[in-house]
Parts: sequence; C-alpha cells; structure tokens
Amino acid sequence: MSTEEGKKVSRKKEIGKNGVVVEGRGVYDRRNKLNELTGEEWVYFTNSVWITGYSPTATENVGLKYRKIHPSPKPPGLIRDIIKFFTKSDALILDPFVGVGGTLLGAAMAGGGRTAIGIDLEEKYMQAYNKVCETENLKKMQYVIGDSKKIMGEKNSITEKKYDLIIADPPYSDMMSKTRTGQRVKLYDSPGATPYSDKEADLGNMNEERFLASLREIIEDSARLLKNEKYLIIFCKDFQPKGKQTNLLHCKIINELNKIDGLEYKGMRIWHDQAMSLYPFGYPYAFVMNQIHQYILIFRKVQNGGKK
Ligand SMILES: C[S@@+](CC[C@H](N)C(=O)[O-])C[C@H]1O[C@@H](n2cnc3c(N)ncnc32)[C@H](O)[C@@H]1O
Repeated sequence: MSTEEGKKVSRKKEIGKNGVVVEGRGVYDRRNKLNELTGEEWVYFTNSVWITGYSPTATENVGLKYRKIHPSPKPPGLIRDIIKFFTKSDALILDPFVGVGGTLLGAAMAGGGRTAIGIDLEEKYMQAYNKVCETENLKKMQYVIGDSKKIMGEKNSITEKKYDLIIADPPYSDMMSKTRTGQRVKLYDSPGATPYSDKEADLGNMNEERFLASLREIIEDSARLLKNEKYLIIFCKDFQPKGKQTNLLHCKIINELNKIDGLEYKGMRIWHDQAMSLYPFGYPYAFVMNQIHQYILIFRKVQNGGKK
C-alpha cells in the first residue's frame, strides 16, 4: 500500500484475521496479492461492461489539448483504473505501443511508486507526452522511440527488466490507414485516412495477416518479461462486418495470443465509451452498427502451474 493508504489502514478497525476497514472504501484483505483495493472496489471492477466517458476537460483526460495530435489517444483516467486493479503501488509497467502516453500518464495518476516504460515509433507523440507532463506537473516516465518488434526481440535495458503489468493498445490492424467510408466519415468529419505514421514497421500499415503475426511476436517477447501470475491487457476494436466477413478482430487476437506458451486468456471488459455520439448510419434503410465500445482483453501469465 502507498504511505497515504497505509496511514488510513492503520487507523482502521480489524475484521477477523485478515480484514482491515478502510474509511469510505470498504474492507481490505491483507492476503490480497494483486492490488490495494478493498473487496467492494475489486468486485466492482470485475463487471464485464464498463460504461464511462471522459470530456475533453475532465481531469481523467489530462492534457488532451496536446495529446489530440494522435488519432486515438486513450483517456489516462481509464488506464489509471486498470493499473490500480492489476498492480500494487511499487509496480513496473510496460506499454509497447504507448502513443501520446495514456499508460505513462495513467501510471503517474495511479500514484504510489508506480513507474512505467513506453515504446512508440513516432517522436512527435513523445513530444506531446512530454508537454503534458510539464504543464500538468506529472511524473515523467521513460519513453523510448523505436520499433517494438526490434526492441523487444533484443537484449537491452528494457528487456533486462521484469514487469508487473503489460498494457498494449496496438493499432487495430490497418483500420486508421484506410480511406474512410460510411460510419468513419461521419465520426472523423472527413474521408481522409489518419495513419499513425508512414513507417513500414507500423502495425497500423499492415494487412490483417501481417498485423496478427507481428502483434503475436511483440506480445510473446513482452510476455516473457512479465512476472509469473501477472497480467497483460490488450485493447482492440472490431471492423464493421462486410459481406460474409464477420471482421471480429477481437476474436482473432484472443485466439492468436492464446497460442503463446504460458499466457492464458482470462476474459474481457467491454468499454462503452460514453463520449461517442450515435449517428443514423443506415437509417431509414438498413441496420448499421454504431460501434461505441472497445474490448479490453485480459491475459494472465501462468507458468509452472502458477508457481513463481
Ligand atoms: C492505438 S495507438 C496507442 C495509443 C495510446 N494508447 C495513447 O494513449 O496514446 C497505437 C500506437 O502504436 C504505435 N506503433 C505501431 N507500430 C509500432 C511498432 N512496431 N513499434 C512501436 N510502436 C508502434 C503507433 O505509432 C501508435 O501510436
């Protein structure tokens, strides 16, 4: 527990052998090996549907003014809550697709002694992240520019560490580098594509087959650095179905990553982003889905029968 949380506990009532009442939050169980949440907070997080949205001015969406140069930044408050569930306050977190720093900001906001390392191909995203840290006075984490496939596959200062949590928000195959049609023209107000970069190594510029193979390689190398019994989280979104193609990218990702030795799929949270608007896409002729949710897929490292 962080010092602040520790102080609160020390003033609290003991419940049975392991319980400690934490004022205003519920009962913390001293056997808790995963996080610093009370039982009530823990159970709330396991809800499979997460309905929340962050306005541009919400504190959970800190520094959006700088981060919006990125086509799909994650609200740091959302990542903060994921980090609080999956780590204790001394955790080290890795994000191989860090963009404008959602995970790094989330780790700083989660507090305690948490630290995070992020990798991305694009220097301009790091500059936006740095600007947010400076203006918001948030702890600056390590940000490495480069290709995660290369970095995670070689010996260096990142791969010599062990991590308590890996958060990966990869490109959703080539969704952002395609010229938009239908729903996406309306969502983005223009038919122009918004690729993350023009780099060949960018997973967002790869077709689905190359994307899945590259993602698996990066996740396999990352999972090797994960401590046993710890978690790896992946964000993703599906494409609209087309003809007989179901385009359920989240299923393909689950099946591909579940083949990795020692990594097991444990379930998902569906994030309903309340900040998304509804559009009358097919109206009044046909059903066209308003996709206002993303998948947060949860994997766990389980090796040697779960022993450390
Ligand atoms: C969905 S975005 C991540 C957004 C991030 N969660 C945030 O809050 O800003 C995916 C990111 O992966 C990066 N990327 C794509 N291929 C990469 C690679 N091979 N190595 C490192 N980063 C890569 C892109 O530049 C892009 O910023």
